Amino acid sequence: MTKPIEGFSKLTKEQKIDWLTTHYTADPEAAKKLLKRYWNEAEDVQQLHDEFIENTITNYYLPLGIAPNFLINDKLYAIPMAIEESSVVAAASKAAKFWLDKGGFKTQVLGTEKIGQVHFMYHGNKEHLSAFFDQVLPKLLSEASSITKNMEKRGGGINTIELRDKTDALENYYQLHCTFETLDAMGANFINSCLEQFAKTFKAEAQLFSLFTEEEKAIEIVMSILSNYVPNCLVRAEVSCPISELKGGNTETSQQFAEKMVQAVNIARVEPHRAVTHNKGIMNGVDAVVLATGNDFRAVEAGIHAYAAKDSHYTSLTHAAIENGVFKFWIELPMALGTIGGLTSLHPLVKLAMEILGKPSAQELMQIVAVAGLAQNFAAVRSLVTTGIQEGHMKMHLLNILNQLGATDDEKKTLTHHFKKHSATHNAVVEAFEKLRSTK
Ligand code: MEV
Repeated sequence: MTKPIEGFSKLTKEQKIDWLTTHYTADPEAAKKLLKRYWNEAEDVQQLHDEFIENTITNYYLPLGIAPNFLINDKLYAIPMAIEESSVVAAASKAAKFWLDKGGFKTQVLGTEKIGQVHFMYHGNKEHLSAFFDQVLPKLLSEASSITKNMEKRGGGINTIELRDKTDALENYYQLHCTFETLDAMGANFINSCLEQFAKTFKAEAQLFSLFTEEEKAIEIVMSILSNYVPNCLVRAEVSCPISELKGGNTETSQQFAEKMVQAVNIARVEPHRAVTHNKGIMNGVDAVVLATGNDFRAVEAGIHAYAAKDSHYTSLTHAAIENGVFKFWIELPMALGTIGGLTSLHPLVKLAMEILGKPSAQELMQIVAVAGLAQNFAAVRSLVTTGIQEGHMKMHLLNILNQLGATDDEKKTLTHHFKKHSATHNAVVEAFEKLRSTK
């Protein structure tokens, strides 16, 4: 059995790779070659990547695709998407084209409030705590001024600090619930720095508060951290058109198609098993753009799923309705994104993605991401209620299967042509491939 290693982080990259491949791979030389093959040729670019995280051994590649023809608030975008799943970019592109001549996507940012909390334990008189909070509030702000100065110059900063009594949920538990405006920054570092300063000031000033007993002075700060649940940092995206302009599959009338879309969304509204998959399709679009633009997709995922469960029932993030002969399809998503700071000015492909999007503000990026989610969901549900998902999916997945089978370029060309007219199940592709090989 491999022994634990001391001081791994202090080894050079080459030493880390030597140790790793010797202990954990069957063919160390082949593994080393593979890892080095994905190093960037430009040493400075590779160093940049090495320094994004710790113990870097190579770069992990994902395809970066483009979904063009997105008309959002009358502006045309080509949206970069980083994702490994076949058919996502194709579906987004198809939805973009579908809505292009129907007025496109209309979006609106409904709020930009970010949240952070200092969680603490207090044993004592609630009125004393409340009086202390009123007294210390100006000092919480003034002692954080070196952190907030630059953000304030740009028009952001701390919005509110509130004392919340959470003792109904957990004995002795209180919090400083704080809201922030972080403009084009995602704001995690800014918020966490402010919160840690609030905690320090709060604890220190408690020692000096005359009404507090010795026990009350012993406020116990448990932690200070931003919340990735940002229900008031919210964006809405919508498409709509007269039902007569809708075309689903080959068999339905426009009216039947519109009604089926609404039914499918209503099923996701009431049935959590379906809602999770429905929302997963939305996140195919959301995550791909969030990742391509160097944002934190884990934060966005966590916040969005919490939002989907905000009414104590996990439900669909999209909505659909038919009103006076008009089909309406919309989404509301909370998300904290940044277009400055973080990876946005460091990662070469993120910089390019931002340029492709026209160097958006954080608010504009929120709108683009919400549109990607809505488009993805429209495309998925449209397939589901018409042809079924597999027809399109397997066509897109075909090349992956052929690559697994080791097909040559010529074989791929022949079989791609063949499956334009035939249903591409996994077995059918294997059979057609074997047949083609045996005829040679
Ligand atoms: C697959 O990645 C996403 C779908 O399952 C979404 C959905 O079912 O709505 C197709």
